[in-house]
Amino acid sequence: MNSFDSPRYPVDRQGAPAGPCAMIIFGAAGDLAKRMLIPAIYNLKQSKLLPSQFAVVGVSIEPYSTQEFRERATQSMRELSTSPVDQDSWGWLVNRMYYVSGDFRDANLYIKLEATLGQAKKREGTEGNCLFYLAVSPEFFPVVIQQLGAANVVTEDNHTWQRVVIEKPFGHDLASAIALNHSVAQVLRETQTYRIDHYLGKETVQNLLAFRFANGIFEPVWNRRYVDHVQVTVAEELGVEMRGGYYEIAGALRDMVPNHIFQLITLAAMEPPISFDAHAVHDEQIKVLHAIQTFSPERVLDHAVRGQYGEGVVGGKHVPAYRNEPHVAADSQTPTYVAMALQIDNWRWAGVPFYLRTGKRMARRVSQVVIRFRKPPLVLFRKTSVDSVTPNELVVNIQPDEGISLSFEAKIPGPVVRLGAVNMDFQYSDYFGTTPSTGYETLIYDCMMGDPTLFQRADMVEAGWAVVEPILDVWKALPPRDFPNYAAGTWGPPQADELLHRDGREWRDPIRNAPHHPASPSVPTSKS
Ligand code: BG6
Repeated sequence: MNSFDSPRYPVDRQGAPAGPCAMIIFGAAGDLAKRMLIPAIYNLKQSKLLPSQFAVVGVSIEPYSTQEFRERATQSMRELSTSPVDQDSWGWLVNRMYYVSGDFRDANLYIKLEATLGQAKKREGTEGNCLFYLAVSPEFFPVVIQQLGAANVVTEDNHTWQRVVIEKPFGHDLASAIALNHSVAQVLRETQTYRIDHYLGKETVQNLLAFRFANGIFEPVWNRRYVDHVQVTVAEELGVEMRGGYYEIAGALRDMVPNHIFQLITLAAMEPPISFDAHAVHDEQIKVLHAIQTFSPERVLDHAVRGQYGEGVVGGKHVPAYRNEPHVAADSQTPTYVAMALQIDNWRWAGVPFYLRTGKRMARRVSQVVIRFRKPPLVLFRKTSVDSVTPNELVVNIQPDEGISLSFEAKIPGPVVRLGAVNMDFQYSDYFGTTPSTGYETLIYDCMMGDPTLFQRADMVEAGWAVVEPILDVWKALPPRDFPNYAAGTWGPPQADELLHRDGREWRDPIRNAPHHPASPSVPTSKS
C-alpha cells in the first residue's frame, strides 16, 4: 500500500451538499460532541451543505436509548446556542440521530453498531458511506480503530467510502507518533485517515494561503531579502482549567507547538504549491518542517525558553498559580509557556529567524503571525531630523479580532520632516460579517467531501515531533529550577524577552492597535 495515494473521489468544492453518509461519533456523550460537533452539523444543515440522505450515530458508554440521546442533544443545543435554533432544521436532524451504547473495547459494541448502520442506510438512504469521528481520549484511538477493522466496518468497496477522524494529540513524542501511525495503517489506508488539527478549521488560518497566493504583491517580498524576521504568538488567558491530568503529562510544548503552531509556520513559510490539491499543499508544508534547523543540546539551552505561571491577575481577577490548579502536582515542573527561535534552512528563509511563543494565563488571548520587514536605507532623510524609521509590519490576526494589518511610515503634517507609523487595517467582520461557527464545520464538510487538504498527513505529524524531540529530551534531563517564573497576566518569563534582545529585536506588543483596545497614537520616530 502506498500510504500517500491520491483521494479516490473527485473533490467538488463548489459549495454543493455532501453526498449521502452517516456520521458516527464515538464519545457522543462527551464535551467535544456536545459543544462542537453536533452544533457544527446543525450549522452545516443551515448552510445547506449537509446531504439530504444523512444520519448521526452516537456511540459511548452511557446507557442511553436513542430517544434519550435525542433529548439530551436537544437540551444541550438549547443551552449552548447563542441564537434561536431553527426548529425545522433541528427537528429534521434530531430525527436522524441514533445511539449505540457500549464499551469501546467490547467486540459486541461493533456488532450492534453495524446493525444500527444497516438501519440508517435503509431508513435514511446513507448508501453505506461512513464518517467515524473519534471524539475519545487518545488511548482509545488504536482500540477503536482495531475493533472497527476486526468488525470489518471500515473496508471500502467500489461504491462506498469509510473515513476515520482522529484529533490531536497524535502521540506524545516521535516514537509514539510513529507507533500510532503504524497501528492506524494496519487497518486504514492513509486516504481514509483524517487527522484533525482544529487550528486549520479557523478561517484566518486558511486565509494565510489565500492571502499569500491569491495576491500578486506580497509573494515577491516574502523572503529573506525583504523580511527581517517572523513572530508567531499564541497566547491564552485561560489556565489549565480542569485538564490538569492531561496537561501535566503534555505541557505547553507538546500541547501547542508540533501541531497548531507548526501549522501556522508552515503556511506562512511554504513555497507556492502547484495546486490546492491536498498532496501538493502537504508536500510543501513538510518541506518547511524538514528544513527547520535541528536543535543541538546547546541550541536548546540558548534558543528555547520554558515557563510556568505563578499566581497573578488576569482580566481583573486574581487567579492561582499553575501548581495550585486541580490535578496538578504541588512541585510540578510542567511548562505552561514556551518560546523559541527557529531557523528555516532553505533558499527563501536562510538567516531569517522565526520566533514563536505560546502560553497559558497570559495578559490577553491573542494569536497572530507578524512579518517584520527590513528597514529601508535612511540616506534620503540625511538632512532631516528623522534618525530612524519603524520597519513595516504585516500582522495576521488569527483570533480574536480576525484580520490583517499593514503598518507603514507616513509624514506627519507640518513644516518639519517627521515620520509616524500608521496602519492599514482589514477586519474580517467588517467585510464578511459573522456566521455561527464552532470551527468544525469546514473540517467535517471536507471530510464528507473527501478533501484532506486541511488535515495532517502521517509524515507531517512525525516531522513535527522530530523538530521538538531534542527540546523535550534536554528539558527532561535538566529540570527547571526557577518555576514558577512568570506571573499570570503577563507576557511570559523575562528569558523570552532576552531571546530576542540578544538578536537586537523585541516581541511586538500583541495588542498594539487591536480594534477593541485604545489605539496607540502614531509615534513620531524622529527627534523633534
Ligand atoms: C488545544 C489545546 O489543542 O488548543 C488547549 O489542547 C488549547 O490547551 C487549545 O487551549 C487552544 O485552542 P483555541 O482554538 O482556543 O486557540
